[in-house]
Amino acid sequence: MKKVIIVGASSGIGRALAILFARQNWMVGVTGRRKELLHELYDLYPEHVVPLAFDNTGEDATDKLQQLISKLEGLDLLVLSSGTGNINTALDWSIEEETLVLNVVAWTRIADYTFNYFKAQGSGHFAAITSIAAIRGEGRAPAYNASKSFQANYLQGLRKMAIHKKLRISITDIQPGFVHTTMAKGTGRFWEATPEKAARQMLPAILHKRKKVYITKRWWFIAQMLKILPDYLYNRL
Ligand SMILES: NC(=O)c1ccc[n+]([C@@H]2O[C@H](COP(=O)([O-])OP(=O)(O)OC[C@H]3O[C@@H](n4cnc5c(N)ncnc54)[C@H](OP(=O)(O)O)[C@@H]3O)[C@@H](O)[C@H]2O)c1
Repeated sequence: MKKVIIVGASSGIGRALAILFARQNWMVGVTGRRKELLHELYDLYPEHVVPLAFDNTGEDATDKLQQLISKLEGLDLLVLSSGTGNINTALDWSIEEETLVLNVVAWTRIADYTFNYFKAQGSGHFAAITSIAAIRGEGRAPAYNASKSFQANYLQGLRKMAIHKKLRISITDIQPGFVHTTMAKGTGRFWEATPEKAARQMLPAILHKRKKVYITKRWWFIAQMLKILPDYLYNRL
């Protein structure tokens, strides 16, 4: 049986993905801080789900990952879904700090741990849910967009490192537009997918080890537009 860990599976996209992998007969390690929600997943798929609650920002986060890998007796794929982000037009430092600590510092620690684990193992697949927000800066949530840009750039770096070192490690960058979870904030949201629909589109992209995918598919058009829109127009949005 193939083995996946989904970091940030207690709610939203990560939870929906965990259910799909369990239904595909994978062993699924699920993490998040809310233990009771992870145990609900276990109750739904006791043969396939192995829960372990921990805070990604804790000193012991990578020890916990190691524990979970031991419980699963190996690992083929890690999907890093956890994240935070808030509207912060006042530049409240506590909001920016929380975003950077989780989305940049803890994220990188988990990414590096995973990469080195797969390097030692000789193969593996690391997928992360970044965001369409990675493409450009945003005045309503500067730290969120910047953190997603960091993640996307870092994934590109890990992919290049794997190629240069001739490692059999695949890297997938998943960039969703709006998905209807507690993370989707602010007004004027459009093309908002359910987490289930988003996960259904992510699954084949992950299984095919795609380098980058926009979710839902039509967000590809928004991504192209964001890349070429001149600043004088982008800044009016
Ligand atoms: N929703 C959208 O519109 C959208 C769009 C683009 C990208 N994304 C990205 O998609 C990913 C998943 O978000 P979502 O929309 O599914 O939101 P969500 O339902 O809020 O899920 C966030 C997950 O991250 C976990 N998490 C948060 N802080 C954590 C911490 N300190 N330690 C461990 N786990 C932590 C949460 O678990 P606990 O609270 O139990 O710890 C939860 O499982 C995020 O990276 C987000 O940036 C979302």
